[in-house]
Amino acid sequence: MKTYHKNNERLVTKVFQDVFDKYDLMNDLMSLGIHRIWKKNFIHWLNPQKNTTLIDAASGTGDIAKLYLNKINDKGCVYCVDENKGMLDLNKRKFKGNTSVKRFCNSAEKLPFKNNHFDYYTISFGIRNVSNLNNALKEAYRVLKPGGRFLCLEFSKVKNKILNRFYKTYSKSIPQIGKFIVGKSEPYEYLINSIEKFHSQEKFIKQIKKQNFINVSYRNLSGGIVAIHSAWKI
Ligand SMILES: C[S@@+](CC[C@H](N)C(=O)[O-])C[C@H]1O[C@@H](n2cnc3c(N)ncnc32)[C@H](O)[C@@H]1O
Repeated sequence: MKTYHKNNERLVTKVFQDVFDKYDLMNDLMSLGIHRIWKKNFIHWLNPQKNTTLIDAASGTGDIAKLYLNKINDKGCVYCVDENKGMLDLNKRKFKGNTSVKRFCNSAEKLPFKNNHFDYYTISFGIRNVSNLNNALKEAYRVLKPGGRFLCLEFSKVKNKILNRFYKTYSKSIPQIGKFIVGKSEPYEYLINSIEKFHSQEKFIKQIKKQNFINVSYRNLSGGIVAIHSAWKI
C-alpha cells in the first residue's frame, strides 16, 4: 500500500491501470450515482455551442465528451486525452465509431496540440492526479483559443462541519468497497489521500490565476464535496 501514497506520475498511472475496467461501476457505487448529476451541472455551466472543439483532459471513459456532444447534437468535435490506454479503449467502445470523438494517449502536462486550438478545455476528476499542477494549467492555457474557456470539476473542501464529518466517515468506507468490487483497496486509499491533499477552492483559484487566466470563479456542488472552477483565456 505504501507505494500508492507517493505522488508521482508512475504511481498515478499504476493506480488507474489497476482499476480502469471497473472504473465506471466504482464511480456509480462510490458516489451513489451523484457523479452523474455533478457532470450534468458541469456541462450545463460550460454551455457549449455548436461547431466548437473541446479538449477533455484526463478524459477516462468519456463521460464529459458524451454530455458535451449530447448538448450540441453532435455538431462539434471532442479530443479525449488520457495517459491510460485501457481507459481510452473503454472510451472508444462507448462511442461506437462516432467520428466526432478523437482519442490521444498523452499526458495533460504535455499536450500534442498546437497553440490556440480549442474553444473549451475541460478536466473532470483529473487535475489532482497530475504530477505538476502548474504544467497542466500552463498547457490548458496554451492550447485554448483566445476567448476560450477552462472548466475543471474536482473534489474540494467542505466547510460545513456536520457535512464534513459525515463525508469523512463515509470516505473511510471507500477502500472497503474497492476491495469488494475490484479486489484491491490500495488504489482507493490513494484516491482518498489525494482528495485530502488537494487545494481548497480559494487556493486553486490562485493557481489558475498564476497562469494568466482571467474571470476565475468557482461553484460548489454538494456543499463543496466537489467544486467547478471556471476561467477564461483572453
Ligand atoms: C478519476 S479519472 C477521471 C475520468 C473522467 N474524467 C471522469 O470524470 O470520469 C482520472 C483519469 O485521469 C487520467 N490521468 C491521470 N493523470 C493523468 C495525466 N497526467 N495526464 C492525462 N491523464 C491522466 C487517468 O488515467 C484517469 O483516466
